[in-house]
Amino acid sequence: MTDSLIFAVPKGRILDEALPLMARAGLTPEAEFHDKSSRKLQFGTNVPGVSLIRVRAFDAATFVAHGAADFGIVGSDVVDEFGYSALYAPVDLKIGACRLSVAEPQELAATDDPRGWSHVRVATKYPQTTSRHFAARGVQAECVKLNGAMELAPALGLTSRIVDLVSSGNTLKANGLVEVEVISEVTSRLIVARPAFKRKGAVMADWIARFREAADATSE
Ligand code: PRP
Repeated sequence: MTDSLIFAVPKGRILDEALPLMARAGLTPEAEFHDKSSRKLQFGTNVPGVSLIRVRAFDAATFVAHGAADFGIVGSDVVDEFGYSALYAPVDLKIGACRLSVAEPQELAATDDPRGWSHVRVATKYPQTTSRHFAARGVQAECVKLNGAMELAPALGLTSRIVDLVSSGNTLKANGLVEVEVISEVTSRLIVARPAFKRKGAVMADWIARFREAADATSE
């Protein structure tokens, strides 16, 4: 067993907020990480023995949950959807704030009342969270799984409604959709593989403390 650690970060817009926070926690990627033409997937950092992988958010959770990466950053939307018992999410990093919401076309929303639904059909990347949310109030949810561009579904007749992340609301607006219900408020979390935490306890505890301090400093 080596003492090397692998940190999984998600591609996309969380990175813009995650990189300064990681730097405050003492972790900075090698220069090639920022080179858009690079085809590398694993990068060195300023800390000997700690490397970074940059993958899709759901894949970051998969790598960590299976112990293939030791720790990482994902949104609480991903943690909730996976419900991995192997995934430990000890720190709210207070970045990447958005919400998981139900949305539908403006014309439908004008006369619709979500409290009257007994059955709902949605396009979403979050079938588990969606089913759980609606089941809690006795609504049966039929989920059509998409991996992106959920906002296309109502206009093209795939489903009347969607469940997706909303941040500025610009994507909904551009597609003639409005939010009708918030399922959860989302922020990014530090996630840790339980096996890594057991095997590498002291060093993992140190990283958790560093990220907790960095998150507290950021939100002050
Ligand atoms: C997310 C989400 C929405 C959009 C919402 O997608 O799925 O489409 O952001 O943001 P807004 O309210 O600020 O418009 P993202 O751009 O992260 O890409 P993805 O579809 O690959 O998840």
